[in-house]
Amino acid sequence: MTTVNAARLHARLASLARFGALAGGGVTRSCWSAAHEEARAWLLAEIRAAGLTAWVDPAGNVFGGLGAAAFSASAPVVLTGSHIDTVPEGGTLDGALGVLAGLECLHALRDAGERTRRPLVVAAWSDEEGRYGSLFGSRAFCGKLDVAAIPTMAAVDGERLVDAMARAGFDARRAPEALAPSGAVNAYVELHIEQGPRLDEAGVPIAVVDSIVGVRRTRLTFHGQADHAGTTPMDRRRDAFLAAADYALRARALLDRSASRTVANIGVATVHPGVSNIVPGRAELVHEMRSADAHALAGLAEGCETLAREVGQARGIGVEVRRMSVTAPVACSPRVQAAVASSCKQLGLGYTTLYSAAGHDAQNLASVTESGMLFIPSRGGKSHRVDETSDAEAIERGAAVLLRTLLDLAA
Ligand code: HGY
Ligand code: MN
Ligand code: MN
Repeated sequence: MTTVNAARLHARLASLARFGALAGGGVTRSCWSAAHEEARAWLLAEIRAAGLTAWVDPAGNVFGGLGAAAFSASAPVVLTGSHIDTVPEGGTLDGALGVLAGLECLHALRDAGERTRRPLVVAAWSDEEGRYGSLFGSRAFCGKLDVAAIPTMAAVDGERLVDAMARAGFDARRAPEALAPSGAVNAYVELHIEQGPRLDEAGVPIAVVDSIVGVRRTRLTFHGQADHAGTTPMDRRRDAFLAAADYALRARALLDRSASRTVANIGVATVHPGVSNIVPGRAELVHEMRSADAHALAGLAEGCETLAREVGQARGIGVEVRRMSVTAPVACSPRVQAAVASSCKQLGLGYTTLYSAAGHDAQNLASVTESGMLFIPSRGGKSHRVDETSDAEAIERGAAVLLRTLLDLAA
């Protein structure tokens, strides 16, 4: 039975971590950035050096094929992968683990000359973290892009997707051409760190993922009136920041009253003009909500939109609400779940079944194929922070389970 080459996997993880490395540890490697494009070139070279076929699609997704050089309905492939882009000041495993463990599985199978009935492909999806648009590359691959929105998609700092992609040598308007032929993927399985505390605290090595949360991002803009911070009487101020702050605290109270497992936060807050001697004329928030329960998620989102308008009314502040992205919660394929569970049993590894509280490309793949995930523990449950880490043995166990799962699905 073929096994993964652990040293080679760790070496590649260390190499990829250098692109966008931060002095104090961790990494910033936003999609289409110089660091990301250097990482892409490195990954393509590694795929080729592993004897696989490498290609890139119009949405910037990178692929490595063992027995495949493209996607076609006549030869459905078993697909694995994740992403090499990161959040700002993120960790070195979120995404990278799934791409490089997938590469290692295909490399080990090629070294062993082991052929599978179905071809195997590993993917690195573009902009999974959604600096410009959530889960961008896998949405393009699955035909779920809002094509009309492409010209206006932008990061919170205003940089447009079209410009970022052009700088990296891509034409954003061609991204929809990345659509995969229907039936081209027989199954998809993604290895990822849990990014939360459950596996680590339970001391269980592997999670079989049975569902993935839905994620909604809403941009709220509060329009007050810029005024002199000294001379404007307090009872005449229309302070946009105060309205935003009032909304934020009341939205949290609304969530606390809802019985569901919904979570939410406001990770982006900007004030304009943003200097201390002007009463804030405008304030912008991005409110992100997540739940495994689509109904609870929609209910909270609607409740918050009503709340925003009430706050605006009460304070004489204009309010604009714009839904930035909505990703539905999905159930994972029973076939893929069974393949992961059986691989754990063959390896004598304990496992448990969890829902994913993080969003992933696998939830887009669920719209075109049988899609599932497996997790390894995140030490201390830490992720989306520079001290994100997992034990070396945990990484090796994850890759070993992934290899057997791929063989099971491709048999
Ligand atoms: O934000 C998420 O859930 C994922 O880490 N991109
Ligand atoms: Mn992430
Ligand atoms: Mn991720």
